[in-house]
Amino acid sequence: MAQSSARLLELIGKPVQDIDTPALVIDLDAMKRNLGRMADFAKKHQVRWRPHAKLHKSVLLAKMQIKAGAAGVCVQKTAEAEIMVAGGVHNVYLSNQVIAPEKLARVAALTQAVAPHGGQIAIAVDSAEGITRLAQAMTDARTSARIGAASAATVIDVFVEIDVGQGRCGVPPGEAAVALALEIRRHPALRFAGLQAYHGKAQHLRSALERRLATASALQAVDLTCQLLTAQGMTPGLVTGAGTGSFALEAASGLYGELQPGSFLFMDADYAQNERDPAQPLFEQALFVKTQVISLQASHAVCDAGHKSHAIDSGLPKVHAFDAKSGLDYFNGGDEHGILRSAEGSTRLPALGKMLWLIPGHCDPTVNLHDVMIGVSGGLRAGIVERLIKVDARGALT
Ligand SMILES: Cc1ncc(COP(=O)(O)O)c(C=O)c1O
Repeated sequence: MAQSSARLLELIGKPVQDIDTPALVIDLDAMKRNLGRMADFAKKHQVRWRPHAKLHKSVLLAKMQIKAGAAGVCVQKTAEAEIMVAGGVHNVYLSNQVIAPEKLARVAALTQAVAPHGGQIAIAVDSAEGITRLAQAMTDARTSARIGAASAATVIDVFVEIDVGQGRCGVPPGEAAVALALEIRRHPALRFAGLQAYHGKAQHLRSALERRLATASALQAVDLTCQLLTAQGMTPGLVTGAGTGSFALEAASGLYGELQPGSFLFMDADYAQNERDPAQPLFEQALFVKTQVISLQASHAVCDAGHKSHAIDSGLPKVHAFDAKSGLDYFNGGDEHGILRSAEGSTRLPALGKMLWLIPGHCDPTVNLHDVMIGVSGGLRAGIVERLIKVDARGALT
């Protein structure tokens, strides 16, 4: 961050105008509305939601989500799980493959850490080798627990990950998943919890119809796998998956018992391009990079936010337009600069020193570039800084 911790703390209660740039800012009112809509959706459809904390990497926001009804949080990294547990979040699902024995030892230690709080750790697997290694780590942790004060009977919930169209982790749906479920059942410290079926590619298909078709094929794969498991007496307790672009479809399927969307809380320029499915709640943009104009030339202005302030893997940010006349387009100016040109139909460039708000292309990696998110209430024009939200798991990649 461009600002020292002391100066950041002094911001609390001050108007948004006082936030130095570049800075990552949350419109707390919009974020709370997004949270409320997700909670209402889950309640109405009687489905659990365990939002993905890889978005915000914040213990405070994870707790806010749990208070709103979430069953816990998902994380993608062992280090993220450790930070959540250390912060007092005790229901954590590592929705990813973990293979290194030293990491699995850390995961097993977390099962011990949450047990006294009535918490539960869960993890995904997609190989027999991964299951063997996880079982070994759990056995080792139980053995040391017998010597120490912790519980010797902790179990870890294990979800078999199937690839339902993303082409990333996960065994093919069907028999391969059944074989892994049988393998899990051989180990007393592992509990077969169900299936992980996340179709990442479906989230960002632009038309609602394309997303419906892609998700329909994922649902078929899940259904088939559930039937085979049931035939073996291993009906999955839970099918978990889904992201912001498709979760209404998984929820309506009757197959998924748990939804994992993350981005809905903040949204981003990429998700804004999706045609909204009528089944999906309406989410608002809540995450912004505040920037200011530092150079004004005949053809363009230059602002102080480049790709050290926002991720560009899903495209460049959009300039938030408060009204139709303020249209500006953002072009890449490198890591510390953004080039601003008048959007079509608008002719004026912003003045030197003018504060602007950027909508990042992709929220998750943008958050990971910052130590702190500045929470504003009362809107971006006249609001005040309500609180600072630390990105606790910034850089927690292991
Ligand atoms: C396994 C898994 N679940 C859930 C999500 C959340 O998706 P989104 O942030 O698009 O809602 C992701 C995001 O990549 C993911 O990898």
